[in-house]
Amino acid sequence: MLDFGGQYAHLIANRLRRLKVLAEIVPGETKAEKLAGAKGLILSGGPASVYEEGSPQPDPAIFELKMPILGLCYGHQLIAKYLKGKVTPGSRKEYGKAELKVNDCTLFEDLSDTEQVWMSHGDLVEEVPEGFEIIGSTEDCKIAAMASDRIFGLQFHPEVTHTPNGMKILDNFIRMTGCRREWSMHSFLKEKIHELSRMEDDIFLLVSGGVDSTVCYALLKKAGCTVKGLHIDNGLLRMDESKEVLKAMPEIDFFDASEDFLEALKDVANPEEKRRIIGDKFVHVAEKAMKDMNADGWLLAQGTIYPDTIESRGTSHSALIKTHHNRVPLMQELIRQGKVIEPISQLYKDEVRELGLKLGLPHSMVWRHPFPGPGLAVRCLCSGHELEGFKHEDNALISRLAAPLKAVIAPVSSVGVQGDARTYRHPAIVYGKADWEALDSISHLPNKLGSINRVMYMVSDGEPQLDLHRAFITKKRLSLLRKVDKFVNSNVKDKDIWQFPVILIPMGGDYGESIILRPVMSREAMTATYAKLPLEDMRRLAKEIQAMGVDCVYYDITTKPPGTIEWE
Ligand code: XMP
Repeated sequence: MLDFGGQYAHLIANRLRRLKVLAEIVPGETKAEKLAGAKGLILSGGPASVYEEGSPQPDPAIFELKMPILGLCYGHQLIAKYLKGKVTPGSRKEYGKAELKVNDCTLFEDLSDTEQVWMSHGDLVEEVPEGFEIIGSTEDCKIAAMASDRIFGLQFHPEVTHTPNGMKILDNFIRMTGCRREWSMHSFLKEKIHELSRMEDDIFLLVSGGVDSTVCYALLKKAGCTVKGLHIDNGLLRMDESKEVLKAMPEIDFFDASEDFLEALKDVANPEEKRRIIGDKFVHVAEKAMKDMNADGWLLAQGTIYPDTIESRGTSHSALIKTHHNRVPLMQELIRQGKVIEPISQLYKDEVRELGLKLGLPHSMVWRHPFPGPGLAVRCLCSGHELEGFKHEDNALISRLAAPLKAVIAPVSSVGVQGDARTYRHPAIVYGKADWEALDSISHLPNKLGSINRVMYMVSDGEPQLDLHRAFITKKRLSLLRKVDKFVNSNVKDKDIWQFPVILIPMGGDYGESIILRPVMSREAMTATYAKLPLEDMRRLAKEIQAMGVDCVYYDITTKPPGTIEWE
C-alpha cells in the first residue's frame, strides 16, 4: 500500500486483513526497487491534486513493476498522470453515494450492472492513458473506473462499507495478485502477546472505560505485563460514567481532575484549541498521578486506534481533520522519546471489538457506543460573541435548492471532511413537513453548495431560532447536555445505531440553547450515514427535550463525508 495521505489509506489494509491478506503500508514515494518483493500494489487516495506543486508523487518506475496495480481516488489520478492520460478539476465535486454503471472486466467480476459506490473527490480523470479502457462511470464522473491488462484505477472508494460490494472488488484484485490468505485476528493476538510478554517495563494505562482502552488493558493483562490502570474524571464525561467504570473495574485507580479541566477550558470556543488543551491536560494529570502512585518512569500505554492517528494528520501526507486527544504535541513528544506504547494502534474499531471478544470481555462492554476522548467538550459548542439577525449570502440559493422545504444557513460552524481535507463551515437547516425520502435527497446539499458542510432537519415545531449567544463550557451547560443525552440515549434503543452523539449549541431564543441529534450508522468511523429513526418519534422526543430548557431540536442528516460524526 503506497500511502499518499488519504483518510481511508489504512482502511484498505484493514479490508485486506479481512480478506486474510497482510498489507504493508509504506510512504507514497517509496522507490520501486524496495517494492519488488510485493505481490501487488495499491495506491491510496490523498488530499492533494496530482499536478499541485509539492503534492506526493510515486517513483515512476513502479508502473514498470510486473505486478497488478490498483489506484484509488488520488491513486487513480496518479495512474492517469504518469501513464499520460489527463486529470482536471471537476466542475462538480462528489461526496457520498453515487451510482456506478459497470462494464465487464476481471476487477468487477460478480458485480451487477449498476452498483452503489462512495465518492469523495474534487479532481477527476478526463482522458484515460493509452491501452486503458473505461470500465465504470457515474453521472458526474465519466471515468470512474479504468483498466489496462494489469493496472486498474477507481475514482471511488471500494474500501469503505458504503460501497456495498467494495470487498468483492478488493477480493477480485487480491485474486489477481496470487497472495496467500493467511492473516487472522487469532494470529495477531498470538503475535501481540508474544511481543508484549517480552517487555520488562512496568506500564501505566489511562482507562476511560471506553472500548479501546478497556481492550488495551485486557490485552496487557493477558500478556502478563505489570500494568496499573487509572481512570481520570475530566469533568466532561456523561452522566454517572465514572461511577460505572469503577464498578466494572474495581481494581483501577481514580483521579478527579474535573475542576482542573473545566478551569482550563473556561473561555475557549475554538474546537482545535479545546482539543489541544484537553490532550495536554491528560498528559499533565497522568504525569502527576504517576508520581503520586510511585509509577514514575513507567511506560505510558494508550488505547489509540488507527482513526485517531490518521485524522490527526498522523501519516506524512494526510490532512488534519481534528486532533484526537491522544495525538496532541505533548503526547507526540512522549511518543518520540519512546515513553509510550500503543498495542492496538494499527486496528480499527471493528477489529478492536473482535479482539475484545477474543480476550473474553463481555459482549455488552465490547459493543458500547464509542465516546470521544475529549468527551462532552466537543459536543458542547461555544461562541466567543453574540450574533443577532444572521443572514448568510447563500440563503436565497439554499431555499431554491431545498424547495419545497424551507431552508436557512445557521451562524454556527462544524468540522467536516471533504476530499480527504478538513472543512469548518456552516450547516444548513431545513424545516417543514418531510419524510425520509425527501430528506435523503436534501442531505446532498453540501455537494451543491460550497459554503455548507452539513444539513440538519428541524424536528421541533415552528421556525428555527438563529440568534447566537456568547457561551463557553460551564457546569450548567454540561449539566443540561448530560440530562438530554441520558434522556435520548435511554429512550432510543435501535440496534443499528452505531453511535448517538447529542450536541448542545448556543443558538436559539429565550433559552439560548438548541440541541442536535446525531444518530449514525458506521462500522469503523471512517465513513458514516445518518440513522433514519421514525420522524414522529423524534418530534415527540423533541417536545420533551424542549421542556428541559431548550429552544429548538434538530436532526443531523449528513453522511461522513462531507460531515464528521462529531461536530468538533
Ligand atoms: P469523527 O467526528 O472524526 O469521529 O467522525 C470518528 C469517531 O471517533 C470519535 N472521536 C474520538 N475518539 N478521541 C477519541 O478517542 C478523540 O479525540 C475523538 N474525536 C472523535 C468519535 O466519537 C467517532 O466515534
